[in-house]
Amino acid sequence: MIDASQHQEEFPPDSLTTLRHGHSVSDEKFDRIFSGNSRSLSSRHWTPMKVALWAAKLLGTGPDVRVLDVGCGPGKFCFIGEATTSASYFGIEQRLHFVEEAERIRLAHNISRANFIHGNMIDLDWRDFHAFYLFNPFLENVTGLARIDQTVALSLEHYNTYVDCVVEKLRAMPLGTRVVTYHGFGGAMPEGYIMRQKKAIGTAYLDLWVKEDSALHEPLQKILDRFE
Ligand SMILES: C[S@@+](CC[C@H](N)C(=O)[O-])C[C@H]1O[C@@H](n2cnc3c(N)ncnc32)[C@H](O)[C@@H]1O
Repeated sequence: MIDASQHQEEFPPDSLTTLRHGHSVSDEKFDRIFSGNSRSLSSRHWTPMKVALWAAKLLGTGPDVRVLDVGCGPGKFCFIGEATTSASYFGIEQRLHFVEEAERIRLAHNISRANFIHGNMIDLDWRDFHAFYLFNPFLENVTGLARIDQTVALSLEHYNTYVDCVVEKLRAMPLGTRVVTYHGFGGAMPEGYIMRQKKAIGTAYLDLWVKEDSALHEPLQKILDRFE
């Protein structure tokens, strides 16, 4: 006969619980939360654990913070952020099958502060969020090697439209908006965003940008000129 208490002790708690308790989890172990297809895409397309932990910290950890993961796949970054901060996470994803998978995981694990939206990030009002995470989401439009699958239309035209759209959406955000990029997003940050951290991590850089009052960053010479 199986002794229930012994049985429980023999099995380690799941990855989300481990993270919630402040312990790290390997990518290999965390990715067991996903289906075989998503697991096989993880090392190339989903944010690695150590990068996600840093990015979540940089985006803001308080209970009032609403973070948008632009192109969230099956939710890896959102799940890690939710488990390790008090912020609320939202992921928008154009591929329905990833959103359905993220939703299944969310429900199965009673994850309360991660939410998933099916759609194109172009159609979403970004002003509902305070902070944005971009892991080079549009790259597969321009490199055949990084293609996830054939379920969405991909082209150089899409790439240029998406990159321009991100720049315009970020330009319209209020002061205090935080943006973290991993491998960039393909464009240049609009005026007003100051790079507050650049960290070499994983296979690239994690950059933190904060929209600040540009008057506070006027070149010294310009300020001195006013007193002449
Ligand atoms: C590199 S993966 C990053 C996944 C996730 N952010 C992470 O870090 O684990 C990029 C994802 O963005 C999605 N994506 C690309 N363009 C999109 C768009 N215009 N709107 C919504 N999702 C998009 C892709 O389908 C893919 O799942």
